[in-house]
Amino acid sequence: MFKKIAVLNGDGIGPEVTRQSVKVLKAIAEQFDHDFQFTEALIGADAIDKTGSPLPVETIDICVDSDAILFGAIGHPKYDNDPTAKVRPEQGLLGLRKALQLFANIRPVTTYTTLHFLSPLKSKNITGVDFIIYRELTGGIYFGKKELTSDGTTAIDECVYSRHEIERISHLAFQAAQKRRKKLTLVDKANVLETSRLWRKVVQEMAPAYSDVAVDYLYVDNAAMQIILNPKQFDIILTENMFGDIISDEASVISGSLGLLPSSSIGSKTALFEPIHGSYPQAAGKDIANPIGSILSTAMMLDHLGLTEEALLVRNAVEWTIENRFVTKDIDPVNFYFTSTVGELIIDFIHKNFFDRVNNENIELRKSTII
Ligand code: IPM
Ligand code: MN
Repeated sequence: MFKKIAVLNGDGIGPEVTRQSVKVLKAIAEQFDHDFQFTEALIGADAIDKTGSPLPVETIDICVDSDAILFGAIGHPKYDNDPTAKVRPEQGLLGLRKALQLFANIRPVTTYTTLHFLSPLKSKNITGVDFIIYRELTGGIYFGKKELTSDGTTAIDECVYSRHEIERISHLAFQAAQKRRKKLTLVDKANVLETSRLWRKVVQEMAPAYSDVAVDYLYVDNAAMQIILNPKQFDIILTENMFGDIISDEASVISGSLGLLPSSSIGSKTALFEPIHGSYPQAAGKDIANPIGSILSTAMMLDHLGLTEEALLVRNAVEWTIENRFVTKDIDPVNFYFTSTVGELIIDFIHKNFFDRVNNENIELRKSTII
């Protein structure tokens, strides 16, 4: 199968984790006889430094012309504490989401038994946690009118949602629930916000068409508490842009490390795949960042391209590294492996265990790796 993949490294640890993912995709292509063509494009602080713009037109063109986008991370400390900066790296990602109409951001949250000790939550509460956040990504307060009065004393961020925007992501969320445990939780603030009341109304109206799915509603403040108290209760969480941003970072503590979680952003054009972590500038260039969030994002990409066997192999490879404690510093600060080594090990698994993935072979494989 021939596929064009745009590679947007971005800032901080973006390039080094993305490099591992490209290696993994190349290994998959080789193993399954596919032809993946990679084209790099600029975004974020890196793009500002090189072109003056966080999202050069050429980058949008390359993305539109591709079958999938692999995205690294965005953000640079030099902009973080400068509220007056007119040009910001984040505008690159937000602009790309808008340009490609990537309206649904899908963030699965799962746990690995061997990593339960990392989570601040009790192991008994996180065993078997398996839910997916469907976060609306191109509307709400992120994209509403922004204003600062000329005297600089008052600021406005408008939050706008239309029925159409709510319906299109809700359909995806309902369909996902139908394929899983058939439970959908809408997270909103309908006791206060008009936009939330519209979300609730639209979802209530859609629910009868998905009669096999049980729907419940939670205010976001309560949801924030429930995600920590009893995360097992969730199957699909559907929510608007800002609430989704906040609760998905919160949910990452369940798995123990922000570095483990992947995401996909789906729209009407090319879909984008990225780890949920940020640019982690303190770790940039040190080869210590966790590449798993990015590598699992490639598994989501492969699924999206219809390559399910390939995606499964990537996930099995990741599980194998975790079970054998081939992990980066965020997970094991003492006996840790480098970003690039974890990438190599995953590739090793992909090549050697293609036909048979039994545990015995995994153990033998451990001997034959580069360690
Ligand atoms: C995310 C990030 C972005 C967001 C930033 C970098 C603009 O936090 O993808 O969750 O807020 O959406
Ligand atoms: Mn975020």
